[in-house]
Amino acid sequence: MKSLVGFGVLILACLLSCTVQAKKHHSPLSSQGTDCTQIKALSPQASSGVYVIQPQKVKTPFKVYCEMRPDGGWTVFQRRSKGVVSFNRKWAAYKNGFGNLTRDHWLGLQKVFSLTKNKHKKWTMRVDLWDHEDDTAFAEYAHFKLGDAKAAFRLLLGKYNGTAGNAMHSQNRYGFSTSDRDNDGCSPCIFGDIALMECTQSDGGGWWYSRCGSASLNGDWHPAGDHIGWASGLHWETWKTHAPYSLKATRMMIKSV
Ligand SMILES: *[C@@H]1O[C@H](CO)[C@@H](O)[C@H](O)[C@H]1NC(C)=O
Ligand SMILES: *[C@@H]1O[C@H](CO)[C@@H](O)[C@H](O)[C@H]1NC(C)=O
Repeated sequence: MKSLVGFGVLILACLLSCTVQAKKHHSPLSSQGTDCTQIKALSPQASSGVYVIQPQKVKTPFKVYCEMRPDGGWTVFQRRSKGVVSFNRKWAAYKNGFGNLTRDHWLGLQKVFSLTKNKHKKWTMRVDLWDHEDDTAFAEYAHFKLGDAKAAFRLLLGKYNGTAGNAMHSQNRYGFSTSDRDNDGCSPCIFGDIALMECTQSDGGGWWYSRCGSASLNGDWHPAGDHIGWASGLHWETWKTHAPYSLKATRMMIKSV
């Protein structure tokens, strides 16, 4: 009898905890700020990691990786460091995001748009680059903004500042292209005896391609020793001028100013 009661209690406990877990799973995320810059401003000690944010006029909060630096909290929207997560994906994936926030990922064009559409805020976009010789360089762009989905998330860049060179200069005001959405500037682009209609055919992934080459950080990741000579690699031509050089790691992020 005693053991039967014990068994009953056990089952009850399990039922309760199971319900609680199910509830937990379905409860909406509660926001910790409108973006990483605000989170860092409100808690200067906050460390880098995953946070839940809710930009103004956005219905559903979402998770982002915040890179907390002395110069402010940055909302990361791209990270490459290994070949585990494929960036060879189509429009819907680039729109909605993919990968693991604590590792390699693409946050999603819709989310970046929802952050930068606020007319009362200005954004700086920072690109960090690492090569296979343990060197690093950066590029910052003032007045960063994306157009909406109808405008193919058109790229808007202000003044350049940095050490990597202004490789995205020619891509300013271009829409985003993937293998199933062509918004690039090739009709065609001629490289020697090759005529390309779409940059994604050679450079891969998705990007604000104008002409192919110059900057392209969503192509295929290539390991050290096998990183030279790929049109599909991670390129930043104004830093690695003897292109095609595929970078070891990259990160893109935004800060409101
Ligand atoms: C993401 O990676 C972290 C670190 O390895 C891991 O703990 C976590 O479970 C992963 N999340 C998902 C959704 O795969
Ligand atoms: C350029 O970027 C560096 C690093 O973020 C910053 O310290 C510096 O103030 C910037 N310069 C200008 C002119 O924006």
